[in-house]
Amino acid sequence: MIKNHSVVSIEDLSSEDFVEVFETTDRMLESIKSGKHLNTISDKIMATLFYEPSTRTRLSFESAMHRLGGQVLTVAETKSSSVSKGETLADTIRMAESYSDIIVIRHPLEGAARLASKFSNVPVINAGDGSGEHPTQTLLDLYTIKKEFGKIDGLKIALVGDLKYGRTVHSLLSALSRFDVKVSLISPESLRIPSHVLSKTRSKIDVEESVNLPPILADCDVFYVTRIQRERFTDQNEYQSLIGSYAIDTHTVSAMKNDAIVMHPLPRIDEISFEVDSLPQARYFKQAANGVPVRMALISLILGGVN
Ligand code: NCD
Repeated sequence: MIKNHSVVSIEDLSSEDFVEVFETTDRMLESIKSGKHLNTISDKIMATLFYEPSTRTRLSFESAMHRLGGQVLTVAETKSSSVSKGETLADTIRMAESYSDIIVIRHPLEGAARLASKFSNVPVINAGDGSGEHPTQTLLDLYTIKKEFGKIDGLKIALVGDLKYGRTVHSLLSALSRFDVKVSLISPESLRIPSHVLSKTRSKIDVEESVNLPPILADCDVFYVTRIQRERFTDQNEYQSLIGSYAIDTHTVSAMKNDAIVMHPLPRIDEISFEVDSLPQARYFKQAANGVPVRMALISLILGGVN
C-alpha cells in the first residue's frame, strides 16, 4: 500500500505497488481520453520544489495534479525563493509541509530527497536527486514497456549511454531486477554503472556490460538511450570527449529487430538523430506522454484518492 508513503527510491515500492500503479494508470488514461476529470483529490495541494532544471517532470507532475482536480504550489526557480538567502533544505521542507499535502522535490544532491522525507510529515516524491534516483521516471518507463509488449518478463533490454551519472538508469535497473529480463549495459568505460547499483541486481538477473553497441543491435527488444550528464562533470574536457559516444541514427535502427523500440527519458542532445523520430521504433515521445497518467496514478494512490 502506497497510501501516505514517500517515494524516494524505487525500492520504496513493492512489486504489488507496481501492479497497482499500472492498473490505476490505465484508469487515468481512460479518464484523460474521455475528458472526464476525476476530482478525487480536489481538496489537496501539491508543492513542487525544483532545485534543478526540468521540463517534462515538473510539467507532468503539475498536469497530473490539475487533472485530478488538485492544486499546485511551485518553486521552479530557487533564485526566487528563500533558498537564495541561505535557507536550509530542512527549513524549506518544514514550511512546504505546512502549506501542502504532498511535496515533489528535485535536487542536485544525491540523498536530498531522502533527507527531505525525514523532515516532512507529508509524503515526499523524489523527482530526481543528483546522480541518485528518479523513481517516477522508472514507473513510466516500465509502464511504457509493458504497454508496448504486453509484458516485461522475457525481454532483452539495453541501457545505453551515461550509466554512471544517469539517475533514471539507476532506478530502472533496480526495478528490472525484479523481472525475468536480460539486461545489456552499454557505456563508455569511464561511465559504467556504479558498483553499488550493479551489486543490488547482479545476482537476480542476467546482466552483461560492454562498451560496444553494434553487437547487440539485432538482439534486444528495448534500447533505453540516455544523455551524457554534462552537469555532473567537473572536467568539461572529459564531457566533450564523451559526447557522441553512441549516436542512434536511421542506420543504427535498421540493424535492430523490426519490433524493437527506442526509448529515452529526454532531453536528448545528440544521442538520437531527428530522422529516427518518424521511424516506427521511436517511442520516446509516447514514453514522455505516459508521464502524466502514471503520475496521476501515483499521486492519487498516495493521497488516498482511488476507490
Ligand atoms: C532525466 C533526469 O532529469 O534525470 N530527465 C527527465 O526527468 N525526464 C534525464 C536527463 O536529464 O538526462
